[in-house]
Amino acid sequence: MKRVLVATAGGDCPGLNAVIRAIVKRASQERDWEILGSIQAFNGVLWEPTEVKILDEEAVAGIHFQGGTIIETTNKGGPFAWPIKDKDGKWTTADRSEEMIRKLMYMGVDAVINIGGDGSQRISQALYEKGLNIIGVPKTIDNDLSATEATFGYQTAVQIATEAVDKLVTTAASHNRVMVLEVMGRDAGWIALNAAVAGGAEICLIPEIPYDIDKVVEKINERFVRDRGFTIIVIAEGAKAIGKDASKEHNDEIGYANAKLSGAATRLVEELKEAGIKHSIRKAVLGHIQRGGIPIAYDRVLATQFGVKAFEMVMEGKFGEMVAFHPPDIVSVPFKEAIKEPHFVTLDSALVRNARGVGISFGD
Ligand code: F6P
Repeated sequence: MKRVLVATAGGDCPGLNAVIRAIVKRASQERDWEILGSIQAFNGVLWEPTEVKILDEEAVAGIHFQGGTIIETTNKGGPFAWPIKDKDGKWTTADRSEEMIRKLMYMGVDAVINIGGDGSQRISQALYEKGLNIIGVPKTIDNDLSATEATFGYQTAVQIATEAVDKLVTTAASHNRVMVLEVMGRDAGWIALNAAVAGGAEICLIPEIPYDIDKVVEKINERFVRDRGFTIIVIAEGAKAIGKDASKEHNDEIGYANAKLSGAATRLVEELKEAGIKHSIRKAVLGHIQRGGIPIAYDRVLATQFGVKAFEMVMEGKFGEMVAFHPPDIVSVPFKEAIKEPHFVTLDSALVRNARGVGISFGD
């Protein structure tokens, strides 16, 4: 019997369950493979007692359209930065990677499939360098990985954000208001840009193009004639005015290493008021709604292909590599290449140019 351990790491993302199901279904076509799921990323392996569950066809039946992940996830800690309290009661971190690799050997695990974003694939690379047979599956709603044309979950997030814009249009028009919608994406503006184009917003503010508040005001004013009119602004959580940093919130969760982006819409509303906008303004922060619920068909299809490919890579011994979508093919790329550089919106991209072509202002 050969064993593969699957972990879902980082923030959850619509389509994770479809990947897990595809791995299990593909494995079931071969003889003598067992798939284990580690609970909450690698925590399940590192905890005492260990918490892993057998993923057989019964366990994954019908989960392809369920949001979240049946094996849970976490974006805190990890084998290289396991939170521990020192003698003075202060939190510090310990490197438990070697211990984890030993434990996996003891558990009879032949290979690991780590489904996660850039941070998780950095961990995959480091574990691979320590000798672990590991394969990565990219996951993020932010679409900020350059090695793959797309990540599952992203299109679902764009769809949810677009539906939010559609809903805000009717209320903004009825009240002659400026409506600001804040969407996720971390340092990438993909979700905001696509939702702005699909939803017909007038203004789109993204991290890659710092905004000039006077330009934003100008565009809003164009949309109002004697107080009648409305404007929809889609702002990415990482957006910032020229010369400013992204708006962040302190986070004291133990082991949480990422900057917690928050407050971009609130700050923009203040800036607009300071700059003299007298129209009624309201804001909506979409938050984790973009990550929840059922994945759209596109993401289920991509996730299913990623799962099948990941298991086939295990059989071929393609360790140290991550699954990637290079249309029309599902391929594999070395972790090193996969994590080399992020994928951001570029100013000269067709989508930015065409967004400008339908009158969308980026505040620049
Ligand atoms: O990376 C995915 C993402 O949803 C980002 O868009 C967002 O900034 C972050 O995760 C939120 O993380 P958390 O779930 O820890 O609040």
